[in-house]
Amino acid sequence: MSLTSKRGATCVLAVFLLGGSVVWGADPAVLKPRVPLDRIEEAKTWRNPFPVTPERLERGKKLFHGKGFCVTCHGRDGKGFGNIPGLRGKLPRDFTDKAWQAKRTDGELFWILKNGSPGTDMASFIPLVLTEEEAWHVLLYVRAFGGT
Ligand code: HEC
Repeated sequence: MSLTSKRGATCVLAVFLLGGSVVWGADPAVLKPRVPLDRIEEAKTWRNPFPVTPERLERGKKLFHGKGFCVTCHGRDGKGFGNIPGLRGKLPRDFTDKAWQAKRTDGELFWILKNGSPGTDMASFIPLVLTEEEAWHVLLYVRAFGGT
């Protein structure tokens, strides 16, 4: 490969990555609510009763990697496999997606941990795997991926 075509390829790659992340940030397939419409208003009123502290974050992290095994699908970096064009709305969510983080309330995320996301591999974790208290802790850690 000549130097020019190598540069060309790098350029195309850069545009692809940049373009991809812009589209991804506002991907309607990802931002579309997961809680059924007849439940969402109630779910949005649920608040995380545990204010974030370094100790609680650490507990959430342990649950994410251990008992909750979230890491197997969402990854150590929280990025899941959620950034493949065309499949973004079905694969394990990328928790570093700030547009997605801003769109969801804590209550909606808790609802998903209780009920799963119907029609996807995101199963229900409460009460079989996590207690409600543990779920709120793991969500503190999920939020931390968004830099909040
Ligand atoms: C078997 C793989 C798998 C495991 C394990 C898993 N998830 Fe998921 N998760 C998914 C998939 C797939 C989606 C995407 C579902 C969708 O698009 O509706 C998802 C989506 C989510 C969402 C986003 C829902 C929304 O409103 O957009 C949250 C929050 C979440 N998972 C948290 C967790 C937590 C916390 C754990 C560990 C307790 C966990 N997940 C474990 C596969 C998994």
